[in-house]
Amino acid sequence: MTRTLEEVIAEIKSRLNIVDVVSEQVILKKNGGRYWGLCPFHKEKTPSFSVNPQLGIYKCFGCGAGGDALSFIMKTKNIEFMDLIKDLAQQFDIEMPAHFQKQNISKDLKNDMMTACEKAAVFYHDLLINHHSEEIKAANDYLTNRSISREIIDKFTLGIAPRAYTTLYDILKKDFSNEVLEKAGLILPSKEGHGYIDRFRGRIIIPIQNENGDYVAFGARALYKDQTPKYLNSSDSLIYNKSKLLYGLYTAKDAIKQEDGVILMEGYFDVISAQAHGIENAVAACGTALTSEHVKLLSRYTKSRRIYLSFDTDSAGQKATSRGATIIKEAFEGLGDIKQFDESYISTSDDKYSCEIRVISPPEGKDPDEFIRTVGAESFKKIVQNAPLLLDFQVNSFLKHKKEYKTPQEKSKYIKDFLPVLAEIHNEIIRSEYIKMVADALNIDEKALENEVAKLASVSSLNAVPQQEIKKIVTKNVSVSEKAQKNLLSVFLVNDSPFTFAQIGEMIDDSHFSDETLINVKYTIDKLICTVNNVKELIEQLYTAYIENPEIQQVLTDLTGIAETFTNLSPEDFKSVIEENIRRIQRCRWEEEKEKMRNLYKNADEDDTEALKIQMQLRDKINNRIKSEKIND
Ligand code: UTP
Ligand code: MN
Repeated sequence: MTRTLEEVIAEIKSRLNIVDVVSEQVILKKNGGRYWGLCPFHKEKTPSFSVNPQLGIYKCFGCGAGGDALSFIMKTKNIEFMDLIKDLAQQFDIEMPAHFQKQNISKDLKNDMMTACEKAAVFYHDLLINHHSEEIKAANDYLTNRSISREIIDKFTLGIAPRAYTTLYDILKKDFSNEVLEKAGLILPSKEGHGYIDRFRGRIIIPIQNENGDYVAFGARALYKDQTPKYLNSSDSLIYNKSKLLYGLYTAKDAIKQEDGVILMEGYFDVISAQAHGIENAVAACGTALTSEHVKLLSRYTKSRRIYLSFDTDSAGQKATSRGATIIKEAFEGLGDIKQFDESYISTSDDKYSCEIRVISPPEGKDPDEFIRTVGAESFKKIVQNAPLLLDFQVNSFLKHKKEYKTPQEKSKYIKDFLPVLAEIHNEIIRSEYIKMVADALNIDEKALENEVAKLASVSSLNAVPQQEIKKIVTKNVSVSEKAQKNLLSVFLVNDSPFTFAQIGEMIDDSHFSDETLINVKYTIDKLICTVNNVKELIEQLYTAYIENPEIQQVLTDLTGIAETFTNLSPEDFKSVIEENIRRIQRCRWEEEKEKMRNLYKNADEDDTEALKIQMQLRDKINNRIKSEKIND
């Protein structure tokens, strides 16, 4: 079935969920019926960017940006409207009208690269399980040694890349161009300058899948002791961005949702071991440090944003833990407090905190993989269940070294780095308890410590502006009349209003509008309300109607913002909003005319009969005005 372009756009819109779309780029936190986050269009530390899922729109109260799901993608990815429609149609498998079906070269290249990666993964895997050679035996022995069963090998499509130079290339060059294979990171031009060689040789192959399960890259572990580096990873490519991809996410997704938490590990084999032993919600960055993009990705899957950091127990791993915690905290900055103590007896709301960071540091084993293999998955699960919150972990690790610091100078220097941790505690009672505990442990004066912490805390609280404050719409300097006209027109866009479109249409006359843009929008609204079923559809279609006109889209955003302030009004109040604004518009118009008359009168000759006429008109107007005011009062 071929559809018209309008039908395709409508279908795409019905498939897009504004919260999902925005969440790909912005961490959102639910508050009431809306979601809030840091605006991607301007720099800010406290969230003034909101998403209204009922209406399918977003709006920033800071910079005024706003629109629907399509305009959000267009703006953030810098894509033209038709290109976006074509992309999404392809993604949703919706057939475009014939004359729009242009071949998309980069899409084809990406698809080819993914197919090549998948073929490579299958090829390496098949070598490992179905073929025989000294190397293949070494690889199988290696994996057996690591307690990796055939089942796990299959689940993760593990494979072997032989040492020979062109094993993979010889197979894949039949189906793929050199360009595709090289761009996919599977082959390299040979040093001698003629021909190509395989990128991965003599290594265990760990294929990397993206969130959708497409094969996009590889991690390759050295098979022999003297081989360097230990892991060779695919570089970023058209289909692979390691700061936005987490190893294991494709298979962990459901478990992360179910457990409402995710365990972040360091290595490929940590994730493989964990997932293979029933700890399914484990993922890892691929040969790179944790980024805020990773955190954004994760926050889409857990409601409570509970993230367990389960890094290696060596000092590099511990550094990664504190770096990771900082990245996570920064990513959630401004969205609310990070959970600092268990208070489930007070509140069970997931929305209370911006995130919850817990730290897993098992006493034995160098990393989760080793712990699970030597101590067992059940013990690991218990450690997860009892994992301390970041704050407690930080306090404990800090106090572990307390004996090393004896002189006042040493103590003061030592505690300096720890002050921010205490200053960040938002509950005063809890903070004072921790201060007491630390002061006791280090044998320092509690009051002195409290003063030092208070100094820091007062500085940081200056940056924390309560959310309600920001919600105030940044009002532009518009004239009273224009404001009243906007108020009046926005009445059409009030969700669940007590009146039908037709009833509202009867109360609001075209003659009330003098602003050109608003007249234009009113005209479109009049046309649309005959066909749409509800306000959401009306807003959607308005944005589509003005998709090529960002200025009018901006006005639409203003209107929907105003409309939201008129929700939940009683029929009487709703009516008086309309009447009051009509009155204001009329008053402004009258003022304007009076001004005009005055000017005319000023310019007229004294004995001019024209002047007399104007004077009389003016008096009439004033009299009528006084009469009508009396009637209304
Ligand atoms: P580790 O050295 O802890 O690796 O590095 P591991 O996974 O525990 O390795 P095994 O158990 O000895 O096989 C953790 C992660 O850092 C990246 C990899 O992603 C690895 O899994 N890494 C490490 C590299 O990218 N390159 C390297 O040379 C080493
Ligand atoms: Mn490790």
